[in-house]
Amino acid sequence: MASTSSRKPDCMSSLERLKRHADARLQRIHAAGQHRVVKPTHRKSDAQAERDGQQLISFCDNDYLSLACEPRVIRAACDAAEQYGVGAGASRLITGDCPLNSVLERRLAAMKGTEACLVFGSGYLANVGTIPALVGQADTILLDELSHACMYAGARLSGAEIHIFRHNDVEHARELIERAQGQVLVLTETVFSMDGDRAPLLELNALCEHSGAWLMTDDAHGLGILDAPNPAPIQMGTLSKAAGAYGGYVCGPAEVIDMLVSRARSFVYTTGLPAPVLAAAIRALDIMCEEPYRADRAKDHAALFCDLMRLPAPESVIVPVIVGEEARTMNISAALERDGYLVTAIRPPTVPKGTSRLRITFATGHTEADVRRLSETLNRLLQS
Ligand SMILES: Cc1ncc(COP(=O)(O)O)c(C=O)c1O
Repeated sequence: MASTSSRKPDCMSSLERLKRHADARLQRIHAAGQHRVVKPTHRKSDAQAERDGQQLISFCDNDYLSLACEPRVIRAACDAAEQYGVGAGASRLITGDCPLNSVLERRLAAMKGTEACLVFGSGYLANVGTIPALVGQADTILLDELSHACMYAGARLSGAEIHIFRHNDVEHARELIERAQGQVLVLTETVFSMDGDRAPLLELNALCEHSGAWLMTDDAHGLGILDAPNPAPIQMGTLSKAAGAYGGYVCGPAEVIDMLVSRARSFVYTTGLPAPVLAAAIRALDIMCEEPYRADRAKDHAALFCDLMRLPAPESVIVPVIVGEEARTMNISAALERDGYLVTAIRPPTVPKGTSRLRITFATGHTEADVRRLSETLNRLLQS
């Protein structure tokens, strides 16, 4: 039997080898131009932000309805902190459930027109918990190629056979379903996070109905923005974008939701959301429904921008300006920041190589003048 010491390649301490391992990976990340850093930024109301003492207008966050800093939402969070404290203490199954969870779940199920809903710690956790609870090794997952990383992660965790269909290509999905084994789960987004286009939900759902497959959608970027009803029986989403708060959810049939409470590992084995976050999300959903002008305004801004930039009409409030090359995209993003606009460059591996882009998002808090000035500045930078 090999002794423990024979596994030691040299006299370096474990800590030293760990540091060298991380450093070697870092060097590869730098060489690929993929090193990322977080930049301290103070987000404020109405799409304003402050970074290094500079005032910026943010055109890159997902707070589409400008609710994250809305005074009524903040008040709801403060009141809940006073009433319930700031931490859930443990998993919802262990400490007993903060009553705000069920208020939020009923509200979401009513908005989506489903029997029930389950709130998770985040959208990522909702996907990595739900997908493996629905299908396993004997089954097949069909995934739109542009689906979010957490749908891919959930699919891999399930152990099911994974087939990727070409973006929004229902005919390709049909071909793959015909050859699939076991139960088929089809995964797509309602609004694609990096391109802002929408999935053909009616056609995909009809395909699933016809073949006995189940359709599950990720509505992270659709909640509060899309008006069209979603036919998918399983609808996942997040409260971190248009709802301005945090947390994920899955809406669906009562039996599915009941099963997830016992089998979604990212629900069972993680702490519940803090009460202030739950209260903020509930208040934000109220405002979202009571004040439809918020979504209309964000959509009008996106339409105006596309018009000014001579881009196709937008399908959501996300507009990608594809630059292509990474370095040029980063340079334009930096130039925009110098001019007072926060528009982060999105590059591989988040998007495919050669499609680096400025992902521009529009919000209620922008003004028409903001949109006009951004398009003038960007047009100038793109031509230089
Ligand atoms: C399409 C999509 N799904 C899921 C998520 C994850 O949601 P959360 O931020 O709540 O974890 C995101 C967020 O980036 C997303 O864009």
